[in-house]
Amino acid sequence: MNTVKTVRELRAAVARARSEGKRIGFVPTMGNLHSGHVALVTKATQRVDFVVASIFVNPLQFGAGEDLDKYPRTLAADQEKLLEAGCSLLFAPTVEEMYPDGMAGQTRVSVPQLSEGLCGASRPGHFEGVATVVSKLFNMVQPDLAIFGQKDFQQLAVIRALVHDLNMPIQIIGEPTVRAADGLALSSRNGFLNEEQRAVAPVVYRTLSTIAESIKQGERDFPTLISAQLQQLEAAGLRPDYLEIRHALTLRPATAEDRDLVILLAAFLGTTRLIDNLHLNLDTPS
Ligand code: PAF
Repeated sequence: MNTVKTVRELRAAVARARSEGKRIGFVPTMGNLHSGHVALVTKATQRVDFVVASIFVNPLQFGAGEDLDKYPRTLAADQEKLLEAGCSLLFAPTVEEMYPDGMAGQTRVSVPQLSEGLCGASRPGHFEGVATVVSKLFNMVQPDLAIFGQKDFQQLAVIRALVHDLNMPIQIIGEPTVRAADGLALSSRNGFLNEEQRAVAPVVYRTLSTIAESIKQGERDFPTLISAQLQQLEAAGLRPDYLEIRHALTLRPATAEDRDLVILLAAFLGTTRLIDNLHLNLDTPS
């Protein structure tokens, strides 16, 4: 597996693969890879002949006071994991390579509606930063397909929308969240949790599962359901940012008649912001 740092080298390597008739798959990441990322790369290797991964901690998607500076950078360990997973090429650009003219005048991609509310409400500009960098990366790699984790459910919806709206010929695949044995969704930010917080963190997935179970049992009073679970989260020592039940495709607030639902949660444990979700399609037996 080669690692390249410039767009020029990336394009040359991808062009070589294309000239050999290979289909290109792409897994964009911010690094500090865990089994969830490895699962995305493994999935890509099953679908295409040439898998490109990127590692770029994108400043444009972090707000002031967020964890850009302390976001873990572990390139050597990441390279080993990617190699083992069968990745063909790693693109690991610098900020200057991605934004050679700086970020202030950078053309932005914004996906209205889907970017509003949930994480978009508490992280203004976040999804514009994500949509912009993902569009740039897509134009640099020009993959046939790209794979993302469903843990970032709203992000996946935003990316599906931008690909559709901007007529990009790229198939977007969402892969199920990989969890620790106690249910905690794998995330690079879990490394910020101390031992005590790590022991508490599985309450996030338990909360989602409890709500899903109640809905499956016929409960449709969503506000009451949510407020009871918010209290539980607070009692466990979390500071909830949001806990919502939305329609899984449109992300608009769910009604009692909706059948395709997603329960989404973001909460702070100390200074670490954890997010997770549970997709619940009442028409699909589970
Ligand atoms: O999910 C992530 O790791 C990032 O938001 C992404 C998609 C790589 C864009 O920077």
